[in-house]
Parts: sequence; C-alpha cells; structure tokens
Amino acid sequence: MTLRELLGIQLPIVQAPMAGSQDGELAAAVSEAGGLGSLPCAMLSTDAMLTELTAIRARTDKPVNVNFFCHAPPTADARRETAWRELLSPYFKEYGIDPSAASEGAARAPFSAAAADVLEVFKPKVVSFHFGLPSAQLIARVRSWGSKVLSSATTVEEALWLERRGVDAIIAQGAEGGGHRGMFLSEDLTTQVGTLALLPQIVKAVGVPVIAAGGIADAAGVGAAMSLGAAGVQLGTAYLLCPEARASAVHRAALKSRHASHTALTNLFSGRPARGIMNRLMRDLGPINDAAPAFPLAATALVPLRKKAESAGLGDFSPLWAGQNISGCKEISAAALTRALVP
Ligand SMILES: Cc1cc2nc3c(=O)[nH]c(=O)nc-3n(C[C@H](O)[C@H](O)[C@H](O)COP(=O)(O)O)c2cc1C
Repeated sequence: MTLRELLGIQLPIVQAPMAGSQDGELAAAVSEAGGLGSLPCAMLSTDAMLTELTAIRARTDKPVNVNFFCHAPPTADARRETAWRELLSPYFKEYGIDPSAASEGAARAPFSAAAADVLEVFKPKVVSFHFGLPSAQLIARVRSWGSKVLSSATTVEEALWLERRGVDAIIAQGAEGGGHRGMFLSEDLTTQVGTLALLPQIVKAVGVPVIAAGGIADAAGVGAAMSLGAAGVQLGTAYLLCPEARASAVHRAALKSRHASHTALTNLFSGRPARGIMNRLMRDLGPINDAAPAFPLAATALVPLRKKAESAGLGDFSPLWAGQNISGCKEISAAALTRALVP
C-alpha cells in the first residue's frame, strides 16, 4: 500500500507539526491542498485542542495529522533549577526583571488520557508522536477509532523499535531538521546523522513506509528522498513563512535574515536538543549546556526574558527553530507551497 493510500492523501507531502509556530489554519490549508496537514498539540490545553480541531473540521474534511510529544514528565530538581536561574541572572539584571518573578507558559505536556478523550470526538485519520510512543494502552485507544499511527526515528534502532510496536509509518528525521530531535533510545548526540545517511538505512531495515524529514526544501529534495526509498516527505522549516503559519515576529525576522542558515542543536530552550538559528543565548552559554534543567523545564525560567526581549524586537532568548536548509522558506500560501513541492 502506498503512503497516499494508507493516509488517504493525494500528495506525498506531510507538513511537519510545529508546536509554538502554527495552529490549525496551516494544517487545514495543507490538507485541503492535498498534502497531510498537521496540528501540533504539545503546547495546547485540551480546550485549545478542541477549538483547533473544530476549526480544522470547519475548513476541510480531508485527512489531518494530530501530533503529540510523549516524553516522561521530569521530576523537578530544585538545585538544578536554582543553578540555571543563577546562570541566567545577569540577563534578568540587564532587563530589570525580578528573577524570582513567577514564569508561566512554554509548557509542553505529553500525550494523555484527557487528550485521547478529545481525539476520540474527532477520530483524526493520522496521529503522530515525537520522542517514541505513549503507553500501549493509550496507543490501543488511538487505534480503536481507526487512526493511523506515525512516529519519528533518528536512528535505525529507533525505527526498528517503532516497527516492533506496530506503527503504520516511520518518519526518518535527519539531523538537518529544525525543532526537537525526536531521539528517544539514546541521549547521545553523536548518534544523530543526516537525512541522506539515515533514510536509506531505515528504508532497508523496516517493512513499513518511511517518510523522510530534515533539510528538504524543494521539489528536487522531495524527488531525491523518494528515489532513496521514501514513501513521502515531511517538511517543517519550509512552511514557517507561509501566511497561515504562526511563527512570531522575531522568528520570521530571523528566518529572513542573512544569519538564518547558521543553526545549531541546542538544549537551552527546553532541556532537549533541538535545532534553531544561533542567537545570543546560544553564543553566550554554548548551544548545549549541562546546566539546562530536564525537558521541558528549562523553558520556564526564560519566559520573562524572552517576552521582554521580543517586545524590543529581539530574538536573543527565543527558540528560533529552523532546519539547516532555509532555502525553501517562502512567503506564499501553504497551498501553493505544497503543490510546488511535488516533483
Ligand atoms: C518550528 C518547528 C517546530 C517543530 N515542532 C515539532 C512538534 O511539535 N512535533 C514534532 O513532531 N516535530 C516538530 N518539529 C520537527 C519536524 O517534525 C520535522 O522533523 C522537521 O521540521 C523536519 O526538518 P525541516 O525543518 O528541515 O523541514 C518542529 C520543527 C520546527 C522547524
């Protein structure tokens, strides 16, 4: 069965879910254009999920992917949190922010029974996960109403692990990709390889369709991935400048700047490695710093700094997620972009 038949889509193009940078409008536009639009739910409350899924349904009856993180929630570590806030304290001073100010927002929650209750109302065609899979019980619920299950693999071992647990397709996420690495069997960044190396090895190792992701920006890239055995392609960065995306003003400005192609994997903004455009915090503390609290706790302390800097037009403390290939970012409609990506 082809990916198109499996997921009920016309084009082999998946718009990558991008938590914090889009809502249902982008998802609906891509799905309506014949690709697979995705709604990221990692940063949505169940009420917000309900609102977004209702809005998507009003815009399209085509298949849509609903995406979740499925990390184990961390245990708070007061000592580490204090050390992290101390490391950030010069910036709080510089901006005149009380370092003890309560910060909220930027929370990321894993898939839960409550989220499954909302999904059950909509029964989306596709549900995708990042950081492995949720419990077998939750997966069984998702499957019970017929959703196809996808998850990201960043190594051959992860792909085999996912296949053994019965996923319908695997997203091979190469190290070029923007946003969080979906890695879940190892924390060792030296295990992470590029799409050109990862994709054919995963295709050879598993029997399910493989979707290529990471650094793909145009129809030629999509064609190259397909000729290496990909059944489809997932693109995130390329969609960030579409009018339907919700990338912040500083994120859009960074993507359009001449510095956009200088990215790095960083754990500073969430506690897990993710690829973003180099900014002041990454330069000052080093993109990977052991002081950052466990995922997703590192984000909390940065919230007031980020807000203050962003209101002055600066992305110095913001995650500017982007992949290594920003050449596909265009200020054109998501439908036009989706169609232009087909080889
Ligand atoms: C801004 C941004 C946010 C992302 N957020 C998510 C997310 O919420 N869930 C997810 O599964 N992947 C997320 N990703 C990773 C994408 O699924 C995908 O692997 C990546 O975008 C592919 O590489 P590319 O950006 O070079 O196209 C994100 C990527 C970006 C650029």
